[in-house]
Amino acid sequence: MIKIAVLVSGSGSNLQALIDANLSGQIVGVISNKPDAFALKRAKNADIQTAIIEHKQYPDREAFDDVMHQQLLDWNVDLVVLAGFMRILSAKFVKAWEGKMVNIHPSLLPNYKGMHTHQRVLNTGDVLHGCTVHYVTAELDAGQALTQGVLRVNKHDDVVSLAERVHVLEHMIYPQAVEWICNGTIQHTENGQILFKGLPLSEPIQFCKF
Ligand code: GRF
Repeated sequence: MIKIAVLVSGSGSNLQALIDANLSGQIVGVISNKPDAFALKRAKNADIQTAIIEHKQYPDREAFDDVMHQQLLDWNVDLVVLAGFMRILSAKFVKAWEGKMVNIHPSLLPNYKGMHTHQRVLNTGDVLHGCTVHYVTAELDAGQALTQGVLRVNKHDDVVSLAERVHVLEHMIYPQAVEWICNGTIQHTENGQILFKGLPLSEPIQFCKF
């Protein structure tokens, strides 16, 4: 059984969706860089062990990442799931977990990497918006996409309504992508290729909610 660690900084609604999904892998631990993250309560309610590793207590990014890395090794983690983890990871940490670490981003990557995605979508006047689960690589929000949730932007949408609607999609596509990794439907080969049911995955699997 695949052992999963979830890294959080905030509310943890994606963590909750992963807990509720009864994955075939096991969430063995949750790490937060914020002691007051609500996600920690969700983990405790589900009897999942937690570790608070505050980035402020370390002299630099690498020292903080080294402590997280050691915690993940102590838990024998196979897969790291970033779920609203608001720290940029060092190249060394990303390299160590390459092919074993995924993230969810609130946009249809490669569009709108980085922050404030909903506002940027509204500013541009895009018709479609959504979220993407992708492997994590050294370049921010640029690793291969696995799944996407797509919605149509309505005339009356604002940042708040878009964030809410995208969140609903996140809670659907993240557990699905993680389950596909757990049960071997998605594989990351040693040469960096992503396979879906044994065949190269060239485009993310899309779920549309119109
Ligand atoms: C989500 O919008 C996710 O796309 C982004 O951070 C947010 C986390 O939300 N990476 P939550 O803490 O899971 O509720």
